[in-house]
Formats: sequence, C-alpha cells, structure tokens
Amino acid sequence: MGKFCKCNGRLLCMCLLPFMMTGHLLVYILVTIFVTISYAPPKIPVHFIAPGSTANSAKMPPHPLNPFWNLRLIDTALWNRLQHGCDRLYNPILRGNASGMPQQSKTKLLSAGCMSDCTSEAVLDTKENEVKSMSDQMRAFVSSMHCREYPYIINQPGLCYSNETLDSPLLLMAIKSQLGNFENRQAIRETWGRSGHVSGEFNVKGGLVRTVFLLGKQESKPNSKLHVLLDNESRKYGDILLWDFKDTFFNLTLKDVLFWRWFEQYCPKAIFVFKGDDDVFVRTDALVDYLNKQWEEHSLWLHYTNETDKGMDLFMGEVINYASPNRDPSTKYFIPQSFYQGAYPAYAGGGGVVYSGSLALRLKHVSEQVSLFPIDDVYLGMCLRKLGVAPSHHPGFLTFDLPFMQRGNPCAYKSVLLVHRRNPREMIALWKHLRNLRMRC
Ligand SMILES: *[C@@H]1O[C@H](CO)[C@@H](O)[C@H](O)[C@H]1NC(C)=O
Ligand SMILES: *[C@@H]1O[C@H](CO)[C@@H](O)[C@H](O)[C@H]1NC(C)=O
Ligand SMILES: *[C@@H]1O[C@H](CO)[C@@H](O)[C@H](O)[C@H]1NC(C)=O
Ligand SMILES: *[C@@H]1O[C@H](CO)[C@@H](O)[C@H](O)[C@H]1NC(C)=O
Ligand SMILES: *[C@@H]1O[C@H](CO)[C@@H](O)[C@H](O)[C@H]1NC(C)=O
Repeated sequence: MGKFCKCNGRLLCMCLLPFMMTGHLLVYILVTIFVTISYAPPKIPVHFIAPGSTANSAKMPPHPLNPFWNLRLIDTALWNRLQHGCDRLYNPILRGNASGMPQQSKTKLLSAGCMSDCTSEAVLDTKENEVKSMSDQMRAFVSSMHCREYPYIINQPGLCYSNETLDSPLLLMAIKSQLGNFENRQAIRETWGRSGHVSGEFNVKGGLVRTVFLLGKQESKPNSKLHVLLDNESRKYGDILLWDFKDTFFNLTLKDVLFWRWFEQYCPKAIFVFKGDDDVFVRTDALVDYLNKQWEEHSLWLHYTNETDKGMDLFMGEVINYASPNRDPSTKYFIPQSFYQGAYPAYAGGGGVVYSGSLALRLKHVSEQVSLFPIDDVYLGMCLRKLGVAPSHHPGFLTFDLPFMQRGNPCAYKSVLLVHRRNPREMIALWKHLRNLRMRC
C-alpha cells in the first residue's frame, strides 16, 4: 500500500491538482454569487408612513425602501412604467432611446406618461388582470390619467388685474374646496382668506392678498341647485374657479396642475402662492410678515451678488421624509403594488404649503414631464424632486394640529402659521380670539 503511494505520489498530485484548483474556483464562484445575491441596498429608516396607514402595520411593502426615482425600469408597476417612458422621452441621452422602442408601446407610454392626450383611449395596458384587480377609485384614476385638459366652467381672468394692469400680489391663496362647502368658503373670506391689503402682525408693511377657490364639478346633475348657488356665489365674490372634471379624492392632483396653468396665464406676477385645503386655519398676518422678510432677503441677495433675477425657489410646509405608499386596501390612500413601487419623495403635508410664484411657473412646466399620481401632496413632491428643489420644513405648519390640551389657548398659536383642521365655526371663533395676540402673550 505504502509503496504504491510512494511510487505514485507525484502522479497522484499531478492528477489531483486540476481538480483541487477547479474546486477552489468553484468555491470562489459560489461565494461571489452568494454575496451578490444577498446584497441589499442600505436600508432607509422609515420615519413616516403616508397618511391613513397605521404605524407598525403588517401591510408595509415587503421590500426595503428603494431610493426614489429609480433609473431601472420597474415593469410590474403601472406608474413606474409610464414615468420611465416619460423620462426617456425627455432625456434620450441618459435614459436610452425612446425612438428605439416598438412604435405602439411608444405612443402608448408617451401619451399616458406625460403628454395630455384626452382624445386617445385610456392606457389600461394589455395586462388586463392588473387593472381588473384594482379598486374602483384606482380604476377610475387609471382610465383618465392620460388626460389633463379640462375646460373652465367658471373662470376668473381678472382676479389679478386692477385697472387693466396686472397686479403682483404678495400672496395668492389657492384653496381647494368642494361645491358643497359654502360655509367653509364664506368663513375663509371673512377670516384668514380675506382678499385685499393685509397688514402684518408686527410689520405694518403688509401686502396685497388675493384668494381663489379651486373646484371640480359634483358627480350628479350639472344643473342642480348647488350649481345655481355656486353661480350666485361666483358672481358675488369673483373668486371661484370651476373645472369640468369630477371632484374626487384621486382627482385632486388635477387641481394643482390646472391651477398652475391658470396661474401662468392670469396671475404670473404673484410673489408667493399659498395652496391649501378649506378646512385649515392660517395666521395670514404672521405669514405675510414672514414672506415680506423672505422677499427682502432675496432682494438683498440679488443686489449684492449682482445676479439678474433668477427667481426664488421657496417651498415650505410640514415636510414628510421617507414615507412609503400606503398598502392597506381599506384606506382611501391605498396605492397597490401594481400601480406604484418605491418610496415617496420628500413632500409636504397637503393641508397647506407656501411656494414662490417663480417656482409655481417652474412646477407648471416640469409637471408636464411627470405622470399624474393620485395623491396630490406626493405628486407635488415628485415634481419638486424632478426640479431638484428640496421642500423646506417650517415648524409653524401643523397639518397634524396642536396637542389637544393646547388648542383652546390662544397663546399656543403664537408660533403657528397654519393649523389643520378647523371647521367654519372654529375658524371664526379662532379669528376673534387671535386678534391682538401680540399684546396678550
Ligand atoms: C434611436 O433609435 C433609432 C432606431 O433604433 C435610431 O434610428 C436613432 O438614430 C436613435 N437615436 C439616437 C439619438 O440614438
Ligand atoms: C385707471 O387708469 C386710468 C388711466 O391710466 C386712470 O385715469 C384712473 O384714475 C385709474 N383708476 C384707478 C381706480 O386707479
Ligand atoms: C341668485 O341671485 C339672484 C340675484 O342676485 C337671486 O334673485 C336668486 O334668488 C339667487 N338664487 C339663489 C338660489 O340663491
Ligand atoms: C377624474 O375626472 C374625470 C373627468 O371628469 C373622470 O373621468 C375620472 O373618472 C375622475 N377620476 C377619478 C379617480 O374619479
Ligand atoms: C454690479 O454691476 C454694476 C453695474 O452693472 C457694476 O458697476 C458693479 O461693479 C457690479 N458689482 C459686482 C460686485 O460685480
């Protein structure tokens, strides 16, 4: 035995050597593959779940959150697919060649992704099951998301004109309302949304404020009593914008997009825009002071740097970072995996936000490159991301309200700019209480 080994040791080694080397190589390859497979992108801590979902819900997305705006095509989600087509269209160098795609899928993607083509058919896509399994509200959205042209039923072309010349109000307040909310609108007109010159809280300078309400039409009968009342209201106050689309939760994004269009055409010189809901309370005098200060600083900066006016990129509100889509089908914020995948970009709670007029114009243009998304605050965040503008957080925006115990105490409102939510009666009461806040606190 031993003799055999001795004699053939060298031979044996030479025979075994290739096997051993192959074995090592195999182990190396296996380890590499394992490492590659098990690599996960760094986890982003989830600080916030989009409104409507409960924290610690088991219905969170199953994957770690990916960075928003993935260049990779996620072809199992409709919105991602449409946006991918849109990105390609507007960035053929970085994102590939859109004209290299098959003609049919190209026109489909382009018309749905970002070009408004209301005459073409809905892009339900070939995977019928994908759409069939969606909720009614999601299906209604998908079937009309390629269209963003809706005519005015009531317009206010003269809102920002006085004596035939275009005004530049310090603040244009654009308030999303619904046909039936007559009381809310009236309370707003009488309190924080009063149109005209508003003096500041500390600074007497103040500024011109204009208010406009954004509405879609009610589902039922176009000539209903509500519409007659609205006609009267519009004639009396001249502050109603009504478009010919159905006013539903998932159609709120249309109000932003159509408002920007209106803004560009009829009020492009407004310095700041407030966009909010009709169930919030705004301390307009304090806001006017704050905005005057921002504007003065901007003017000073322009003066010292000798820059020509490049416009001001101010966007502020209650900023929400690292939110993920709500995957709980029982809430109205529910976004299925088959529609959108990925995290949400940083966005500001929709109760109310303030941005500069020049940014509103830029948002109008960039929104043409972003597919409509059913949740309006998130859509605004997407457009900002596309512009490369970060929303800035202002602690005075309380879209989740004050702590319960402090709500009755006027002095608690001292540093508040906006608080959500208040009904018309509360608005009027709060307005009275907050007079002369400075003297008392
Ligand atoms: C895009 O693809 C088409 C067809 O494949 C080709 O003719 C065209 O030159 C390409 N364009 C660019 C910018 O690469
Ligand atoms: C409107 O403009 C005209 C001519 O420019 C001027 O005579 C008139 O006083 C102005 N009216 C108001 C209310 O400013
Ligand atoms: C609308 O206004 C007109 C006159 O301004 C008034 O006669 C009419 O009663 C109003 N209609 C309603 C439904 O309030
Ligand atoms: C939005 O409005 C359009 C036009 O009225 C309508 O066809 C569509 O169903 C609405 N979308 C939703 C989600 O309700
Ligand atoms: C700003 O512009 C003025 C006139 O165009 C010029 O005289 C001045 O030197 C410039 N200042 C700076 C800091 O560039």
